[in-house]
Amino acid sequence: MTTRKLTGRLDGLAFGGDYNPEQWDEAVWAEDDELMRRARVNLATVGVFSWALLEPEEGRYDFAWLDAHLDRLHAGGVAVDLATPTASPPPWFTRAHPDALPVTAEGVRLVHGSRDTYCLAAPAYRDAARRVAAALAERYGRHPAVALWHVHNEYATLCFCDHAAAAFRTWLRDRHGTLDALNEAWGTAFWSQRYHSWDEVLPPRATQWHHNPGQSLDFRRFFSDVALAAYREQRDEIRAHSDRPVTTNLMLPGYQNLDLWAFGRELDFVTIDHYPDRPGLDAAADTAFGADRARSLGGGRPWLLMEQGANTVYAEGRVLPKDPGDIFRHTLGHIARGSDGALFFQWRQSKAGAETWHSAMVPHAGPDSRIFREVRALGEAVARLAEVAGSTVTAEVAVLHDAEAWWASEADGLPSPEPGYHSMLRRAHRALWDAGVVTDFAHPEHDLSRYRLVLAPALPLVTDAGAANLRRYVAGGGTLLLQHFGGVVDERPHARLGGYPAGPLREALGVRVEEPRPLRQGERVALSDGAHGTAWSEYLRLDGAEAVSAYTHGMLAGHPALTRHSFGDGRGWYLSTVLDTGDYGALVQRLLGEAGVVREWPPGVEAVTRGAWRFLLNHGGDAVPLPRAAHDLLTDGPLTELPPHGCAVLRMP
Ligand code: GAL
Repeated sequence: MTTRKLTGRLDGLAFGGDYNPEQWDEAVWAEDDELMRRARVNLATVGVFSWALLEPEEGRYDFAWLDAHLDRLHAGGVAVDLATPTASPPPWFTRAHPDALPVTAEGVRLVHGSRDTYCLAAPAYRDAARRVAAALAERYGRHPAVALWHVHNEYATLCFCDHAAAAFRTWLRDRHGTLDALNEAWGTAFWSQRYHSWDEVLPPRATQWHHNPGQSLDFRRFFSDVALAAYREQRDEIRAHSDRPVTTNLMLPGYQNLDLWAFGRELDFVTIDHYPDRPGLDAAADTAFGADRARSLGGGRPWLLMEQGANTVYAEGRVLPKDPGDIFRHTLGHIARGSDGALFFQWRQSKAGAETWHSAMVPHAGPDSRIFREVRALGEAVARLAEVAGSTVTAEVAVLHDAEAWWASEADGLPSPEPGYHSMLRRAHRALWDAGVVTDFAHPEHDLSRYRLVLAPALPLVTDAGAANLRRYVAGGGTLLLQHFGGVVDERPHARLGGYPAGPLREALGVRVEEPRPLRQGERVALSDGAHGTAWSEYLRLDGAEAVSAYTHGMLAGHPALTRHSFGDGRGWYLSTVLDTGDYGALVQRLLGEAGVVREWPPGVEAVTRGAWRFLLNHGGDAVPLPRAAHDLLTDGPLTELPPHGCAVLRMP
């Protein structure tokens, strides 16, 4: 199933947001209807946090209020993305089932009072969640307003309680088969950790010092599987009563408790929530990062931006305003990269409750406000892009992403916690974004043959299959850049012996790393080509590769820092330090050149081809003449020049 089905119901791109009418009264609902019409809203996410209203006591449902809202929205031409409310169990549930409240690694049982207070592994929670999903599906499965289903909200909460422990043991038996195999995988021969009974095995709760890395990694895998099972349960209840697509809104922040690839495979289409964590140009780059990941998780199919902020970003612990025009640019950035629309959290800013100060499409100030005017203009623009719905984006370059590698990079006892997985991925993506290149994310075991260039900025863990796949990619003509501490452990995670990285990668890269040598905080190393590195260095030996640059000081003086190896029809590059941003950008440019990826537009212009349309976002202050006049969907007229800070969506001949 693809978003065609969604857009089929919507007749174009989706525009709207989370709609929580239960916070308001009839007069406001009437105004909502009018303002939604003016803003050209055609999709509202309803019911995300409505459990306490829908099921005021266990097993008793009150649908009357929801019936009325769905009918009203439908009458106004607004389709509904109907949510199951399971991210926020009501007070009666947690009172009746205190054992279903989440327990932190430190053993603190959290209490009701916020949201997401449940353990995904607690049977009472899972049963209640399935029941409310089934009740909703039964009642609204064929409701004409319902265009899609939104299961839960941002699966992410970990729990270390006894239910989690029991489920973890079951999961471990499935994965490892025997206790001997588990002991071997976790390396329990050390520190007297050998298990003689399954009952001795626990989640990685707070302990005296380092956790066992195998235990930690398996727990992350386990919890992601639990979340996916919880999703599937609800999805299947819904499918029994409804033919509308089902999804859940993924969050792609700097921590990650889900194997997003696994979720991507199960969703009818991917949806994400995206809140840039920095303002200005960084936010535009972050938008591209989030959008490229969303598209990739769905295998390139169209996806949907389920939430964004209307006027604020969380940065440095502050809610900072977005500049005029930013809402428009961020939205266009998402649509350019494959989103079949743009939704916000939330439609109307709450006047009370936990998110009173979170932005919305209709702010506290009401419709006579800059923000609502921008929202209206955006709604008009999105409506003009209807013909783009369902089209796709292709990329020539990929950055490798793997949840297991991420989790492995967070193990205790690594040579250095710096730089983190997420920051390395963002850096790689940013260098490509700065170079004007559209990037996919790919898993190390995916077929990579369609990419001219693959960057692996953070891949400490690689399976044998992944290493063999990367070797095949290079041999087949690809260009690969593996970065420091790459391929150092397998999936258990056991260290690769005989020199890093894993054997097939050593062949492809023509290097053998003997010794990781993390740098002190703030320490910089100079390289022979004038570049500088921080955070990390390595003692490595050439085994077929040439040294492109070498360290200049200390024990590593004269030893290779950056290497290049011609292997088969391709090239394997290895970088053993974290280059300064400018130096890294220059390296990425060089790799793009070598791989034959050309930039078509001047620096400052973000250009993305989606189907038969070219999206242009001018991040610079100068007008950019177009090579030839083209029809711009945003103005529905011809365009010869992209204005300073302007955007265009050109229909290509
Ligand atoms: C999202 C969440 C919304 C809202 C929003 C605020 O992550 O799904 O419910 O809390 O954050 O930014």
